[in-house]
Amino acid sequence: MKPKVYLTRKLPNEIVNSLRKNCELRMWESEEEPVPHDVLEQEIQEVDGLFCMLTEEIDRSLLEKASKLKVVANMAVGYNNIDIKAAKEKGVVVTNTPGVLTETTADLTFALLMATARRIPEASTYLREGKWEAWTPMQLTGQDIHGATLGIIGMGRIGESVAKRAKGFNMNVLYHNRRRNQEAENKMDLQFAELEHLLKESDFVCVLTPLTAETENLIGVKELRMMKETAILINTARGGIVNEEALYHALKDGDIWAAGLDVFVEEPVSLNHPLLSLSNVVTLPHIGSASRKTRLKMAEVAMMNLLKVLNGEKPPHQVE
Ligand code: DGY
Repeated sequence: MKPKVYLTRKLPNEIVNSLRKNCELRMWESEEEPVPHDVLEQEIQEVDGLFCMLTEEIDRSLLEKASKLKVVANMAVGYNNIDIKAAKEKGVVVTNTPGVLTETTADLTFALLMATARRIPEASTYLREGKWEAWTPMQLTGQDIHGATLGIIGMGRIGESVAKRAKGFNMNVLYHNRRRNQEAENKMDLQFAELEHLLKESDFVCVLTPLTAETENLIGVKELRMMKETAILINTARGGIVNEEALYHALKDGDIWAAGLDVFVEEPVSLNHPLLSLSNVVTLPHIGSASRKTRLKMAEVAMMNLLKVLNGEKPPHQVE
């Protein structure tokens, strides 16, 4: 008998077909709409495996309904949407997809940094709205990237890849991490810094740490006030790491110069969100890993993790 699996979003046919070969598959048929919580609550009761996205909140009460569940395979590197403690207590293996999205997410992080510093979306809108009447010396002037100091909060795989890109722009790179990453320091000439020092010295601050109980609201009023008035904050990790209300006031009051945000506390972000009313904010809809190739690889890795556990084997990427 094949194991029963529920897939929470429509994925490309090659993935769905492989899952069908190996499992008795039920799935939420929409690509756009996340599965409603009550549907998931129903489906999870019957399955051995769950293949889910970061949009699904896999909390204790949901896990308690899943008497047969052996594995939750998250199609993301971040797993703050899953109650890991509850899963462990229930003997459910949780897996994620590190590695395959590193370079794509670093590309996007650097693209967002550049777009924010050089005001690219604003400049493009300016032209299309017919406001470009003449070239003027100080029109749409931004901040230099080359030679500036970049502070990276979180020196994991993506942090390292962003540092590598920054070095190509001749940037001075500081980083803050729970543990020192001596290898990255030596390889790329990075400097470890306490958070306060990093915030005070950096022209750009990139948030690249996972969202955990310790990093929630890591950047709030106090931290934003430590930053330079010309500084730019980039967040491609998770919304909850930066306090959005504090960020709104810091941007509005000129405590910092601009922000580039790919992630929000509530996603999709409401069009009435105060941050969206500011012209010094560049916003994206959580597309850090969104290249077709990478998303396919993430789906493959999630599938491999899921099938390994259902086969009684150790998955390549188990969240400990
Ligand atoms: C992740 O994997 O955690 C990203 O946020 C989405 O690709």
